[in-house]
Amino acid sequence: MNYFHYKSNELWCEEVPVSVIAKDVGTPFYLYSHRTLKQHFRVFDEAFADVPHLICFAVKSNSNIAVLRIFINEGGGVDIVSGGELYRALQAGVDTQKVVYSGVGKRVDEIEYALKSDILMFNVESSQELQVINACAERLGKKAGIALRVNPDVDPETHPHISTGLKKNKFGIDIGKSREEYRKAKKLAGIDIKGVSCHIGSQVTKISPFIDTFERLKKLIKFLKEDDIEIRYVDLGGGLGITYDQEEVPHPSEYAKAIIEAAKDINCTFVFEPGRVIVGNAGIMVTEVLYTKSNEGKNFIIVDAGMNDLIRPSLYDSYHQIQPVIQKQRGEIVADVVGPICESGDFLAKDRKVFRFERGEQMAVMSAGAYGFTMSSNYNSRGRIPEILVKDDRFFIIRKREVHKDLISGEELPEFLK
Ligand code: LLP
Repeated sequence: MNYFHYKSNELWCEEVPVSVIAKDVGTPFYLYSHRTLKQHFRVFDEAFADVPHLICFAVKSNSNIAVLRIFINEGGGVDIVSGGELYRALQAGVDTQKVVYSGVGKRVDEIEYALKSDILMFNVESSQELQVINACAERLGKKAGIALRVNPDVDPETHPHISTGLKKNKFGIDIGKSREEYRKAKKLAGIDIKGVSCHIGSQVTKISPFIDTFERLKKLIKFLKEDDIEIRYVDLGGGLGITYDQEEVPHPSEYAKAIIEAAKDINCTFVFEPGRVIVGNAGIMVTEVLYTKSNEGKNFIIVDAGMNDLIRPSLYDSYHQIQPVIQKQRGEIVADVVGPICESGDFLAKDRKVFRFERGEQMAVMSAGAYGFTMSSNYNSRGRIPEILVKDDRFFIIRKREVHKDLISGEELPEFLK
């Protein structure tokens, strides 16, 4: 369910025609629907109403502070993976007791920043990291809340680049070794064991891998109880998939039902780290057709957004629907929709049946709210594009378009080159 729809042959976001925004801010740009963001958050949150829970939105999927503020206002927390993400969440006004910190490579300065900010817990991914967090906490005279992120060795059956819960992946601590690790953690003066965590992968389209994982975690929790280690938080990570094309994905309520059913014999607060399922279909990218051409029978539609703006198709071969901003009667062709970047890998769609777009027309690249702007770059010295938020019949620029000056901000000519 989202609030992008056609009315009188025009694409609208809530009560604003997309063409009106394009005229005002120029192309390309990201566009998010406030109503959709709020609704997606609420649906996920309400699905778990029957158990104590905390929704920690995965900042990596969309880190604009206005977007974060929407979820914070709904009572949400955040899942962060860097000091930078913590800074953003703090700027957005997060309750620091609703912050969980994941990631395999936390630096000492980042750990200290999180400790000083008094976050809920670190999801610890290695034995060495545990020791370093303990040392930092002792140095600062604090206790670090932690969960061990265990690697359950479950196959999430998703794209290899975004699968994280297999033994061969770099993430987490082998579940078989985790009991021993917890025993060690218990002895550390700077550590307060709060929970157990996991994250098996992203764009997971089945419920069974989540349940298999949870069952493994439950066994571990039982063993830990025998060791007098009480688990108060069970963090099941993020990962629930969305429909980009035709995928049939479980509704958050089905996912919640299955988890709650499996949670009967467990007394804890559940933490979830959803990203994509909340923001993915709440955002689009709007771009304009610069040129069309055919080379040896192959059709190209060249647009003003490239892989630096939305890298998912190039990186994961991922599918994003291509829709016209203004609908009209015309035929279809099979074409590659490509950007201006000097790389053959720069495409938004490959061999796709699309409408016969013409120069000057605008197109919407759908389902771009997650891992869109956050993965964008300045490659080819292209300024990053603006982010716009629609609320009802108004729109707000929540991130300005970068201009040439922004591109070299921070760069300096050393004395000898002046
Ligand atoms: N928690 C942890 C520890 C994670 O690593 C991730 C995603 C999430 C939560 C959120 O997962 P989600 O609910 O969004 O699936 N750039 C890729 C996705 C990478 C996901 C990385 N980790 C993409 O564009 O598909």
